[in-house]
Amino acid sequence: MIIGQIKELREELKKKREEKLSIGLVPTMGYLHQGHLSLIRKAKKENDIVVISIFVNPTQFAPNEDFESYPRDLQRDATLAYQAGADIVFHPTVKEMYPAESSTFVEVMGRTTQVLCGASRPTHFRGVTTVVNMLFNIVAPQKAYFGQKDAQQVAVLQKMVNDLHINVELVVCPIVREEDGLAMSSRNTYLTDDERKQSLILNQSLTKAKALFQQGETSVQILKQHIIQQIETMPLAVIDYVSIYEYPSLKEIETIKQKSIIALAVKFGTTRLIDNIII
Ligand code: PAJ
Repeated sequence: MIIGQIKELREELKKKREEKLSIGLVPTMGYLHQGHLSLIRKAKKENDIVVISIFVNPTQFAPNEDFESYPRDLQRDATLAYQAGADIVFHPTVKEMYPAESSTFVEVMGRTTQVLCGASRPTHFRGVTTVVNMLFNIVAPQKAYFGQKDAQQVAVLQKMVNDLHINVELVVCPIVREEDGLAMSSRNTYLTDDERKQSLILNQSLTKAKALFQQGETSVQILKQHIIQQIETMPLAVIDYVSIYEYPSLKEIETIKQKSIIALAVKFGTTRLIDNIII
């Protein structure tokens, strides 16, 4: 069932709740791949009813970004979503989510939204937190499913849930990769053949850094340098950032002592790819 209206979705879910059915939510922007489908499968195992939202959220794109050209294919997405176990596809219009009079944002302040992608995309996370908060209010799920692929998004959303005392459990699912190691992303379709080949360096350099760490190298500076050197061997790669922080606090560190994240964002042509590894 594809539902476009908030009112209709609320009525449908009210019935489910009266039947004592549990509800899991998988927020997405569509153009589904195995990464998204892994979240739906996990949600179906843990809930009676799975709602997947497919909404390319304008407020998380900056004016110079790819909101207009972001890939969209609702019919294909709906088929894949049902096959993976989704019960309801919520596909609202921009007007439905953001009526002309709407002027409220939800914003997590401080470090979590300022570092990594927050530095190069300063308005991105307030768009994400605003729309995910709306989805929580509309669907009122017991659990919501997110990918480790967007590790900073998970840290920001968990902070929002804690700070606003939202009654939902966030479930974080591992990164799903192509056979050759590239993290799956709806934006991978933008890559040319050469860019696609060179993009393998992202996962390769992260994996090597993890191996170095396991052999005893704990210096953030040295590990970062190793990754940067490898990425720079690829002529089409332009580094946005390579960073190592404590995770999920995203605190600055010089040596790795606790759970940490190695995260990177690299541009190939106009396509910006992100990847990370938790150590
Ligand atoms: P989108 O990029 O469509 O991703 C939807 C969900 O799928 C996110 O939780 C993301 O982390 C997860 N995901 C994407 N690629 C993945 C992969 N390779 N492996 C595992 N999980 C993966 O993230 C968003 O949309 C939006 O910001 C959203 C949360 C929907 C708010 O608009």
